[in-house]
Amino acid sequence: MTIESNRKQIDKKNDALSLNQWNHHNVLDLDDFSHTEIVTVLSLAERMREILDRRIPRVPALRGYTIVNLFFEPSTRTRASFELAGKMLGADVISVSASTSSIQKGESLIDTVRTLRAMRADAIIMRHEMAGAPYLAASHTDASIINAGDGAHAHPTQALLDLYTMKRHVGDLKNKKVVMVGDIAHSRVARSDLWGLSKMGAHVVLCGPPTLLPRGLGVSERPEHAKNALPSVQIETDIDKALRDAHVVMALRLQSERQENGLLPSLREYAENYQVTSTRLIKAQPDYLLMHPGPKNEGIEIASDVARGDRSIIEEQVTNGVAVRMALLYLLSGRVESTQISEGNAP
Ligand code: MLT
Repeated sequence: MTIESNRKQIDKKNDALSLNQWNHHNVLDLDDFSHTEIVTVLSLAERMREILDRRIPRVPALRGYTIVNLFFEPSTRTRASFELAGKMLGADVISVSASTSSIQKGESLIDTVRTLRAMRADAIIMRHEMAGAPYLAASHTDASIINAGDGAHAHPTQALLDLYTMKRHVGDLKNKKVVMVGDIAHSRVARSDLWGLSKMGAHVVLCGPPTLLPRGLGVSERPEHAKNALPSVQIETDIDKALRDAHVVMALRLQSERQENGLLPSLREYAENYQVTSTRLIKAQPDYLLMHPGPKNEGIEIASDVARGDRSIIEEQVTNGVAVRMALLYLLSGRVESTQISEGNAP
């Protein structure tokens, strides 16, 4: 299937989509997204991608809407992506960096968020090193909070852009084998992808050394916690087994900023056993897709020739990230007036 035929399929479904079920004021993770809501975002992202591909990618859909980027951790693509997404829709966007704000003078997160709302911020895009920080912020403001990554917990917009990128290439994700390789335990991308992929019916395989795989995934060791357990997935410590017949392979960075010492004997040994290389990828489907959320460390979790090879869609993930964030901002703004997203009323 080509991207073009997948695009038409997404479009066809798109016209029949109802927005009645879109109930989100915040985007904190994908665990509380229904299948329909995910499809709604991906469909609207397809419209946004068309805007992005125009010679002048600008529409006034969010004129008068104010977005603040509030980042407590470094970021290149997520921050720039939100900023561009807002600007392409005509919103006012400003960025506040924690290192140069009053947070340095001891101001609390709650006060910071309330201060930004007092200046009429409509949406606050937040990245924080503490898992759960965006949830705390959301409970103290009526501005929309979008989680742009909280500790090792969640990165929902990355997951939505990953789903959108996969769907453009492979169409229906049901039963497609998606293999994530690397530091699963500390990866917020893996956690959010896991929710999104499971809701779309994909077969998810998580692969890494035992010390970098979270315990209890999909298997509730304590039945009373079953309802809070992550969805069921296949776990593999042998990368060659994991990659067999994979439709999608996603390499993940070692999150050294969140790892305690002693989890790996050495980087060299890790690369030898878990680097995604062309030799290993021979076992995947012939038309496999190679993804990485970035930033990547070539020569460690992924070989350079593979990262830049013809099965790599890593740069397309970045482009699609802008389209997905445009879709989310537009949905959160409440300006989608009709109960249907159709040719006439999308921006
Ligand atoms: C993240 O913020 O989690 C990134 O997108 C992935 C990474 O840092 O490895």
